[in-house]
Amino acid sequence: MLAHLLRLAGIETIVLEARTRDYCETRIRAGLMEQGSVDLMEEVGATERLHREALVHGGIYLRFNGRSHRIDIHGTTGRSMYIYGQQEIVKDLIALQLAAGGDIRFECSDVSIDGLDSDRPTLRYVDAAGDETRVTCDFVAGCDGFHGMSRPAIPESVLQTYDRQYPFAWLGILSESPPLDPELVYAHHPDGFALFTMRSNTMSRLYLQVAVDEDIANWSDDRIWSELHHRLEGEETPPLIEGPVLQKSILPMRSFMTVPMRFRRLFLAGDSAHIVPPTGAKGMNLALADVAVLARAFETFYATGSEHKLDAYSATALRRAWGAARFSWWMTSLTHVFNDRLAFDNMAQLSELHYITSSRAGAETLAEQYVGLPIER
Ligand code: PHB
Repeated sequence: MLAHLLRLAGIETIVLEARTRDYCETRIRAGLMEQGSVDLMEEVGATERLHREALVHGGIYLRFNGRSHRIDIHGTTGRSMYIYGQQEIVKDLIALQLAAGGDIRFECSDVSIDGLDSDRPTLRYVDAAGDETRVTCDFVAGCDGFHGMSRPAIPESVLQTYDRQYPFAWLGILSESPPLDPELVYAHHPDGFALFTMRSNTMSRLYLQVAVDEDIANWSDDRIWSELHHRLEGEETPPLIEGPVLQKSILPMRSFMTVPMRFRRLFLAGDSAHIVPPTGAKGMNLALADVAVLARAFETFYATGSEHKLDAYSATALRRAWGAARFSWWMTSLTHVFNDRLAFDNMAQLSELHYITSSRAGAETLAEQYVGLPIER
């Protein structure tokens, strides 16, 4: 997305990607786009397939005490969410960038940065053919994820990090079966959180709260389905339709924030700077918002020579990132079982869920953050 926004502003980029194109285009990841993320896709002209295939959602269900309650997000905010897999976004953006003559280099390994103290930093890497290569540039955007080399390239003395680990994980499956409901269901259950979501009208994605050190080998498909039925079904809901499990994995839950998001000519964006638990569906949307802010800062710099937006980048991006981090932590805290169903915590969660689903103010607070606050650029 950053490369697209910069290309449209006449700024040249080179994208170094560790994986193969096929890996990027098929890896199952996030699935829910905020309206602001779709607006960015629109801005770069990448919505042709999205508008044909994405499912538009105007609300979500919160399920607790055996009943589902709808939060009318479109009705309260005028904005919607879109179901469209992250790998589909990646597929569309890669195709468009290559068709426009953009430079994406796949299968780059051993990437390192030199000269961050100078005006012309250099990236060294080994290319797909095994040759050592260098790229010298004006700026480096560290969009290389939590395990990338960008964040560790910043001296520890200038970085502050904030970490929150959760005492559980998610087990996620992709099932070839039609959705239980046309909208997402977030379920609070005494035996653990469950989430029903989807990728299409024929493909469901389901998650279960499991132990933090859970071994996937302990979860046969039968056990997974039985637990999903138990946590997601009730008298007033249609039964969950089972289908072949195409993929299953355990996802860790973590909140992690890096401050600042810039060191000299290196700018961090997305997971290289922050990780949020998936409960609020914010991770990918936050990464897209980061690069929207960063692209505008580069545009201003190249158009006017002014560095004021580059200097403001970290603070601007962090304001939004902390909002998303707090929201994701709150959604997680509201819906998961902590410490063996501590009686008081459980009752307080149920009381707050009741408040959110019965008060207009409560519902609006959830709705405007879930659908995504405007991107300040
Ligand atoms: C997903 O569709 O994979 C998804 C949706 C909402 C979430 C988390 C994951 O909060």
